[in-house]
Amino acid sequence: MPLDGGGTKVGRNVDFVGARVVDPSLALDGIRTVVVRNGTIAALLDRAPAASDTSARRIDCAGMVLCPGFIDPHVHLREPGDSHKETLATGLTAAAAGGFTAVAAMPNTRPPIDDGQRVRQLLRDSAAVAAVRCYPIGAVTVAREGRALAPLRSMAAAGAVAFSDDGACTTSLKVLFHAALLAADLPMPFLSHCEDPSFAGAVIHEGETSDRLGLPGSPSLSEAAIAARDILVAQTTGKAWHLCHVSAETTIGVLEWARAQGTRVTAEVTPHHLQCNDEMLSSFDARCRVNPPLRSVQDVAAMRVAVRRGTISIFASDHAPHSEEEKEAPLSHASPGFSGLEVAVAATFDALDGLPLATMVANYSTNVAALLGVPGGSLQVGSPADMTALYLDRPWTVDPTLFVSKGRATPFAGRRFKVRPAMTVVGGCVVFNAAAPTQALPAPAGR
Ligand code: DOR
Ligand code: ZN
Ligand code: ZN
Repeated sequence: MPLDGGGTKVGRNVDFVGARVVDPSLALDGIRTVVVRNGTIAALLDRAPAASDTSARRIDCAGMVLCPGFIDPHVHLREPGDSHKETLATGLTAAAAGGFTAVAAMPNTRPPIDDGQRVRQLLRDSAAVAAVRCYPIGAVTVAREGRALAPLRSMAAAGAVAFSDDGACTTSLKVLFHAALLAADLPMPFLSHCEDPSFAGAVIHEGETSDRLGLPGSPSLSEAAIAARDILVAQTTGKAWHLCHVSAETTIGVLEWARAQGTRVTAEVTPHHLQCNDEMLSSFDARCRVNPPLRSVQDVAAMRVAVRRGTISIFASDHAPHSEEEKEAPLSHASPGFSGLEVAVAATFDALDGLPLATMVANYSTNVAALLGVPGGSLQVGSPADMTALYLDRPWTVDPTLFVSKGRATPFAGRRFKVRPAMTVVGGCVVFNAAAPTQALPAPAGR
């Protein structure tokens, strides 16, 4: 039976038949039929029910790997304030096209998400425009300025899943310490952007390439020093902590030290820090400008080892779209960051070829759901039917002109990858189907 044509809504009673189902939360890797009723996982069957047994829709998933829905814990959606870079609709549709059933949105919008009312607004606005779930991350400090504490409790009550001043680190140690003390009993983790503010204005990793090009750089120390600072705050306060976009080998050493101390701290890595290095800026290509910067070949290798060892157990795109003009400016003026959602999964699998599939899936789903305390990450009976289907060997070439995202800059343009999202399912509804990639759907009713 063909895939549901054109990505149309298939209803919430569906049998997904014949996929290789990989669910690390259930230690499951085998051919199954996933039975979905009312948007919820109702059963995982060894064989497909006879067509006469059920009035539910059947979708043939032969040749696909079907997993708990991928959750991106770190995206920038730009609304409110910068809809010329991205809107909630384009960003969340890009997420569906990239295989994500949910994302967590960073608060560096204009105005920033720094009170309960803005958290509620983002929940409402995102649910109105797209099916992919959007979880707000609240700012730690008012306007992300690092001075006054934001109302963490009211943001938590409104639905914030974490707190972060991402885009910059929380500059004042005093404020960060008091914020962590105050929020120590809340389950929502703090997410650190680790860059020492004294290196603001850097356009590249500080090392041999920056020396050769004469460009202002930000060294690994800038990241590792703030990581160590924030881990000490976590140790002192007992607050759950997570390091965003780890990029430097030195930071891995700091993380290992923290783990040895028994500190509760997790870390994420982006596909670009697993794939790209500072030599890509040799031609002053502003498309490759990002914070933290692309680092050395050795750092990239260290990121891959850190995932293999489990020191890093979460993947994040750090989707940070900008307009063409903002990315085509000279390097010193170009905005840092690039569009990540539609290439993240393929680029991550490519970087970590040979890693067990269950680990790859856990790092994109089960571990992220656990970090953020959100539903999903498992196909256990009774869970929401949020699923990501992948083709593991369907080579394709990255063409940013085909992105759904408004952001077209990516260091992966022209790269050829094997893994490709096949289908994205939220609450039992197919919201992306590679058979009709330009289509995406509004939020399913009654989610
Ligand atoms: O490169 C980046 N871009 N790093 C960040 O931390 C923020 C992001 C953005 O919002 O553009
Ligand atoms: Zn950041
Ligand atoms: Zn970010």
